[in-house]
Amino acid sequence: AAGKLWGGRFTGGLDPIMQQYNESIYFDRAFYSQDIRGSIAYARANTKNGILTQQEFSEIERGFKQVSKEWQDGTFEINPGVDEDIHTANERRLGEIIGKEIGGKLHTGRSRNDQVATDMRLWLRDQLDQLESYLVDFLKVIAARAEQEIEHVMPGYTHLQRAQPIRWSHWMLMYGSFFAADLQRLRELKFRVNKLPLGCGALAGNPFNIDRDAMAKELGFDGLIMNSMAGVADRDFVVETMQWGSMLMMHMSRWAEDLIIYSSGEFSFVKLADAYSTGSSLMPQKKNPDSLELLRGKAGRAFGQMSGLMMSVKGIPSTYNKDLQESVEPLLDHVKTVGDSLQIATGVLSTLAILPNNMLKSLTPDMLATDLADYLVRKGVPFRETHHISGQVVALAEKESRPMDQLSFEQLEGVDKRFEKDVLKVFDYQKSVEMRSAKGGTSRSAVMEQIEAVKKALAGE
Ligand code: ARG
Repeated sequence: AAGKLWGGRFTGGLDPIMQQYNESIYFDRAFYSQDIRGSIAYARANTKNGILTQQEFSEIERGFKQVSKEWQDGTFEINPGVDEDIHTANERRLGEIIGKEIGGKLHTGRSRNDQVATDMRLWLRDQLDQLESYLVDFLKVIAARAEQEIEHVMPGYTHLQRAQPIRWSHWMLMYGSFFAADLQRLRELKFRVNKLPLGCGALAGNPFNIDRDAMAKELGFDGLIMNSMAGVADRDFVVETMQWGSMLMMHMSRWAEDLIIYSSGEFSFVKLADAYSTGSSLMPQKKNPDSLELLRGKAGRAFGQMSGLMMSVKGIPSTYNKDLQESVEPLLDHVKTVGDSLQIATGVLSTLAILPNNMLKSLTPDMLATDLADYLVRKGVPFRETHHISGQVVALAEKESRPMDQLSFEQLEGVDKRFEKDVLKVFDYQKSVEMRSAKGGTSRSAVMEQIEAVKKALAGE
């Protein structure tokens, strides 16, 4: 085990498959800059407590500048079999640049256990900022379209059966409501991610009285993980991120599913831009909503990453165990999947064409059966009774094979004497949506209020 950080007590080399099974450098190199940033903060704190001289600190800082440059230029050479992970690799290279005499002092009192947790939190923090900006962009498109296209009315569904007329904007703002809550959850989650584990050591704490608060301040953390064993054991921040991402992808998947249905020939409410569709290798006429199907499919992948990590963590004993390394790859992929998905969804929605005439044509008078019942409610008839009466009108229309609004006034009167001439005004889709003006409803004013609510959520209000 020559050259290994932990080689002191080992004699033979690693089994080659074990070597590769154990190493994480090929994925945790994603944290190279966070690893360096954390190390510099650690070295600075160890200068204040006398472990390093000011001069030694300057050397370490200089060395890391070069290591960082090598990663950026793509000239950093990974030493296969020696550079087990990013921490090992950076420290090995630092020693080569500034000499082992000083380089060898860097890790005093530190463990890769507190180091990796610090790197991951630093990395995730920036990623969550990026995801937040993607989510904000998506919500902005939802709000803008909802405002522009507020006049269009379409069928609203329950059980995928025509239920009641709604505004197209109302449908969009249902998702606006889901995604605004996701945005709020993301902002709350950041606070828990942004806690510093550095200075926890391997598990028992730091014996050199390192100033953890100063490191937290330098690295921009909101506070410390207050128990050193928790600091190295904790991957809750990864689990919670993936729980958050899973819920967001669950919403995304339903959104995609709705649009897949609405873009089918049978519905034709919307038309996907070519930029987000693909053709069939066999059927020349096909245009498939692949972007939406991938959004739906990737939701399953995101949930799998979340539940997989929870299963890995649930049975491990206290503090650090190598199982925890299994949190890294799912996290990297999860964050990429969610980020890509948000960008795709934003692209799909900003280029989506709507076909309002087809929406209108899909409305049927029986979708106003509730409105007919409500008409009698306004004349003082109890709703349970009006529901029954309206049902009889639906049955009559079915028997007569004509739409409900084509029944004569006399026929309606035949069902119930309390219908008056003005009942025919019930059969008006615009009127139906405008009646629903209580907060949260589908009338113009209620929809405008929802748009304001989304805008407020964007502003963090
Ligand atoms: N690559 C490791 C991980 O991701 C770093 C921590 C290793 N610590 C240890 N004691 N082996 O978890």
